[in-house]
Amino acid sequence: MTGRDRRPAEGGRGPFASGPGGVRVRFFTHHDATWTAPLHLRELPGGFITRFGEGFLESYHRAFARSPHAVVAVAEDLATGRVVGALFGTLDTRAHYGFLVRHHGPELAVRIFVRAARDSVLARDLVRSRAARYARGVVRYLFSGGRTARAKDGPAERVGLLEHVMVDAGYRRRGVGSALVAAYEERARAAGLERLELVTLPGERGAGAFYERLGWRPGGERVSRSGERFAFYSRPLVDASASSPRGSTG
Ligand SMILES: CC(C)(COP(=O)(O)OP(=O)(O)OC[C@H]1O[C@@H](n2cnc3c(N)ncnc32)[C@H](O)[C@@H]1OP(=O)(O)O)[C@@H](O)C(=O)NCCC(=O)NCCS
Repeated sequence: MTGRDRRPAEGGRGPFASGPGGVRVRFFTHHDATWTAPLHLRELPGGFITRFGEGFLESYHRAFARSPHAVVAVAEDLATGRVVGALFGTLDTRAHYGFLVRHHGPELAVRIFVRAARDSVLARDLVRSRAARYARGVVRYLFSGGRTARAKDGPAERVGLLEHVMVDAGYRRRGVGSALVAAYEERARAAGLERLELVTLPGERGAGAFYERLGWRPGGERVSRSGERFAFYSRPLVDASASSPRGSTG
């Protein structure tokens, strides 16, 4: 089965048509970006990509959701139609970023450069912490003829990365975040993934307690290439009975 075969129809229901009272968890559709971009800015203000602004986030969210190697789930308040939560996760991280470079690279790069040109602090941070890595990734991808790298010694474990999850502050502690994560886990399991991973800020600044409550396992601290410290978590999908979540709403 190819990544494209695994891609759910936009707006499809399937395993995502569930959620806590009054809120429906479903797939992202193109129009949702007008909700998810400000939500991302508001609820994850410390993330590096939020520094590129709402317009960039709208484009990034749409690009992410178009990838056949990713899942974007949103939580919609059925009474108002507002999107009050969103989750962005990959099903094949390398293939996903390859897709973004190939299909949306120029558009996203222009938005990044335009923003950085107006904000010298952002431009400096971008050059110091990420520019070389991003450029290497693009060059590696282009010189591989668009193929994604694979482990040389045997088939690699199939791992997805939960990139971002956020719930509007007025809708928290009602099971919305749990329902979004459960929907991603279900989609990843159906796609044959063996494990999911994520990083969050360590301690009180991060969401470790939330993930642990859902059955994710802490895996210590990681330091990113740009020197930021993160707490690492993973979620095995193969033997679900060994780590069944408490209070996941599905
Ligand atoms: C983390 C987040 C997505 C959780 O969403 P949510 O809808 O409130 O989560 P749920 O209602 O499903 O919570 C399930 C359980 O997780 C735990 N939990 C949730 N938020 C928590 C918090 N801030 N601190 C400690 N435990 C928390 C609780 O045990 C909760 O169950 P309870 O309400 O019965 O005690 C939300 O708080 C958020 O958007 N935070 C800002 C963005 C963020 O930090 N995202 C994660 C970055 S990696």
